[in-house]
Amino acid sequence: MEKTKLILDCDPGHDDAVAILLAANAPALELLGVTVTAGNQTLDNTSRNACNVLSWLGKGEIPVYAGCDRPLVRDKMIAADIHGSTGLDGPVFPPRTKFPEKGHAAQFLIKTLMASAGDVTVVTTGPMTNLGLALRLEPRIAEKIRQIVLMGGSYTNGNVTPAAEFNIIADPEAAHICFSCGRPVVMMGLDVTRKVLCTPDVVARMAKVNNRASRLFVDLMGHFCRTQKEVFGWEGGPLHDPVTIAWLLRPELVQLKGMNVSIDLSHGPSYGRTNCDYFGYLGLPETARVAVDIDAGGFWDLVEAGLRSYGED
Ligand code: RIB
Ligand code: CA
Repeated sequence: MEKTKLILDCDPGHDDAVAILLAANAPALELLGVTVTAGNQTLDNTSRNACNVLSWLGKGEIPVYAGCDRPLVRDKMIAADIHGSTGLDGPVFPPRTKFPEKGHAAQFLIKTLMASAGDVTVVTTGPMTNLGLALRLEPRIAEKIRQIVLMGGSYTNGNVTPAAEFNIIADPEAAHICFSCGRPVVMMGLDVTRKVLCTPDVVARMAKVNNRASRLFVDLMGHFCRTQKEVFGWEGGPLHDPVTIAWLLRPELVQLKGMNVSIDLSHGPSYGRTNCDYFGYLGLPETARVAVDIDAGGFWDLVEAGLRSYGED
């Protein structure tokens, strides 16, 4: 079976950490590298978190590259209310042994994509700053990107403003560059990620796997679910980012609908909105396939299988 090659660009972040966990050990995937940006927390925090998660999982051989510590244009924003002061509050890791490779994440993206046969998927689960910068530094990578699969946006409400979701509003200009680069875009927005709430019974189910991956999952969700309830009142934390990896592994779990999507760059109340023309009012060409539904039961089965793939301790 031919593996899907991917680069995961992220801002760990509790849900990013679960996306890393699923991508790093899936037989059907070849995780070429993890690139990191500021977002949920500062770059120092998100870089350390990515390194610690991979080390904990015994996947220290997967390279991590630190990228942009701020958005391309707008001012910085972080989500400490959800992810805490470290960006990964909850789990306690052993003394750090893994550090980012030398070189900027954008340069890793450029080098890897330009050397590829055009078969690399770029998954982004944080602000799209690194990919946006890479596309500006070397526009030729666009033809080398097999597809962009992102967690971000929504065709309904946002989670930072009524209009905008965090990953997009944290760097709308970068998102615009990525959505308009001409490559296939698959958008997992809040509309479906809010349908996979990690409720206490899900946590209890995953705890029974009882290996290092499941213990990490339980520790992550202990914090993530508490803050999601405090901030949004959810009965469980919406496990946003792993939906990207779940779709790569089992595309039948997610229903997609092609539509014209543009990023609102105006500096009004809709700044950072993914304007999704769900009903085709504008008659403009499709620019993304947007997730409109998800098989939540199948998603949790996939998460459990991902945890079990790490075997017994
Ligand atoms: O809006 C949710 C997204 O923002 C997730 O990727 C979360 O990790 C944060 O980056
Ligand atoms: Ca994220």
